[in-house]
Amino acid sequence: MKIVSANMNVLVKAVRKSAKIIIRDFGEIEKLQVSLKGPGDFVTASDKKVEKILIDELQKARPDYSILSEEIGEIKKDSSFRWIIDPIDGTANFLHGIPHFAISIGLEHKNEIICGIIYDPIKDEMFTAEKGSGAYLNNQRIRVSSRSKLKDCMIFSGGPSFNSKHKDIIFKEYHDMSSKIDVPIRKLGSGSLDMAYVAAGRCDGFYSRELNYWDIAAGIILVKEAGGFIKDFNGSDKFVENETLLAANSNIIDEMIEVLKK
Ligand code: IPD
Ligand code: CA
Ligand code: CA
Repeated sequence: MKIVSANMNVLVKAVRKSAKIIIRDFGEIEKLQVSLKGPGDFVTASDKKVEKILIDELQKARPDYSILSEEIGEIKKDSSFRWIIDPIDGTANFLHGIPHFAISIGLEHKNEIICGIIYDPIKDEMFTAEKGSGAYLNNQRIRVSSRSKLKDCMIFSGGPSFNSKHKDIIFKEYHDMSSKIDVPIRKLGSGSLDMAYVAAGRCDGFYSRELNYWDIAAGIILVKEAGGFIKDFNGSDKFVENETLLAANSNIIDEMIEVLKK
C-alpha cells in the first residue's frame, strides 16, 4: 500500500488550493488574448498570486522550513528542510492559452530532494514521489520506459531562452541528437512536466541546458523513484551546478551522454 508522509499531505493540500486560482485565471487568458494589451501583466500577477498561496499554506503547516521560490527568492530559516517552488512552470504556454504547465515543488532535506510534486491542473495529473516509496501519477505507480534503442526513442528538450549565452551549442546539440533518432525531438515548454513524463515512461529521455533548480527539484525525485537516471551532459552527478541535465531510462542514458558530452 502507498504510504504518504505528513509532508506530502501538506504539499498536496497547498497545490490543490493554488490550482483553483490557476484554473480560473487560465479561463480568463482566452479573453485577454484578443485584447490590445495582451495577457502579459495578468500572467505575471497570476504567477505571484499562486506563489503567495503556496507559500502561505506551506508556512502555516511548516513555519520553520526555509523556502526558495522563483518569484520571491529565498526565505531563510534555521532548518535542514527547504521547499523549492516553481509556482507556474510553463509560463509561456500559460500566456498563450496552451494547456501545458504545472505547479512544481520539491522538498530538500540536507541538500537532497526527498519529496516532490508536479501538478498539471488542466489535465488534473498529479505526479508525486518520496524517497524510497516510488513515483506515482494520480496514486498509480509509474516507471520509466524500457526502450533501449535511442533511434526508436521519444526525446524531449528545452531552450534556448531568448537571452541564452549558449544558443550555438544548443542548436548543435539539437542537430546531433536529431540525427540519432527517428521521431523529431519535442519541446513542450515545461521542464518539470518534461521530467514527470520521463518518470511516467511517456518520454524516454529529456535533456536541457540552463534549467533553474526550481524547474527540476521535484522532477529529480520523480525520475529517480521511477527507476530513471539523472546526469549532466558529461555523465557526472553535478547536473545542478553544471546546468546541463539529462534524465532518461537506464538503457539509453549512456548513448545520450555519448551524443552530448564535450
Ligand atoms: C521554463 C520552462 C521551460 C524551460 C525554461 C524554464 P518557466 O520555466 O521550464 O520549459 O525550457 O528553461 O525557465 O519560466 O515557465 O517557469
Ligand atoms: Ca520554471
Ligand atoms: Ca515559473
